Amino acid sequence: MNRITNFILSPTRLVKHLVLYTLHLLYKFSICNCFHLIGIKLGAHVAIKGTYISRNVTIDKHTKLFQSSVIGNTYVGESCEIIDSEVHGKIHINDSSQILSSKLCGTINIGKESLINGANINGDFTCKEHLRIFGPQVNISGNVDIGRYSSISGPNFDIFSRINKVKIGSFCSIARNVSFQEYSHYTNKLSTYFINQHLFGQSIDKDINSKGDIVVENDVWIGAHSVILSGAHISTGAIIAANSVVNCYVPPYSIVGGSPAKIIRYRFDTDVIDTLLRLEWWNWSKEEIHKHKDIFNLDFSKPDNINILKSTFPV
Ligand SMILES: CC(C)(COP(=O)(O)OP(=O)(O)OC[C@H]1O[C@@H](n2cnc3c(N)ncnc32)[C@H](O)[C@@H]1OP(=O)(O)O)[C@@H](O)C(=O)NCCC(=O)NCCS
Repeated sequence: MNRITNFILSPTRLVKHLVLYTLHLLYKFSICNCFHLIGIKLGAHVAIKGTYISRNVTIDKHTKLFQSSVIGNTYVGESCEIIDSEVHGKIHINDSSQILSSKLCGTINIGKESLINGANINGDFTCKEHLRIFGPQVNISGNVDIGRYSSISGPNFDIFSRINKVKIGSFCSIARNVSFQEYSHYTNKLSTYFINQHLFGQSIDKDINSKGDIVVENDVWIGAHSVILSGAHISTGAIIAANSVVNCYVPPYSIVGGSPAKIIRYRFDTDVIDTLLRLEWWNWSKEEIHKHKDIFNLDFSKPDNINILKSTFPV
């Protein structure tokens, strides 16, 4: 009885309930399927479902957005799909990128034609074009910068960075179960436990230290189950053998393995390595790479083939 009197006496409440009920019906019967659209500019051919979108969001044409919540300062380029996703903060997604079943939070800039499927990205994240991340269980946090055409395969890929940066170059291949650990517990304090964070209510920053940035240059292949620690610098063309722990400098075109990783051998002799480093093919445009596609199938353990390369690209 009291509830009925409340509705009769409060027209505002009645209107609110009617609006909510109408939205519920619209959602249920797929007539509109969108809630709370404020301060946005949507382009053509957009399909939105069960979405909470808030201020300053521009979404260009051909965008599909399913069961998503997008909050603040987001720009999504042409032909994007964001499915089962949450996008919070200052996010810029370039043309033709697809974000599927992922969560993006922070200052995030995704290069064009990237595909991020099943990742949880949190922090200050930038990638250039054509990054491929395949989940599930891909967690990236902190200040992370990834170049063009690199590929990360889950499950269980992590980047934990908080004090320094993690920089991964172009055309890198990273296998499943690889972990980048940019910070550590202190070894020289009374306890290694995160006592400031868990007991004294202070920031975790008092409990962790780092030996510096983690840098992975270009065309690096990191084998499954490897751990890359703070201060590691993996040079262009290197291979990290499966199950390795890398904590130091890895020279160009070397193969390293073990814990801690040591040089197993070099992929090529110094003449080939110098020629490849001079070529810097990883900075070529997509068109240049296609134009010279035959050189990507040469076997450089055979001396004749390096001569083909030298004559095609004289110093
Ligand atoms: C690093 C790797 C490419 C080396 O291959 P390879 O050139 O054929 O090397 P070989 O098998 O001839 O081994 C050469 C030496 O390296 C050692 N080695 C090979 N893999 C190693 C590893 N993961 N850790 C430590 N040492 C390793 C070998 O024991 C051998 O040592 P020896 O000369 O003292 O006998 C390969 O072992 C590897 O780890 N691949 C990664 C696979 C992977 O993770 N794939 C993920 C999907 S993309």
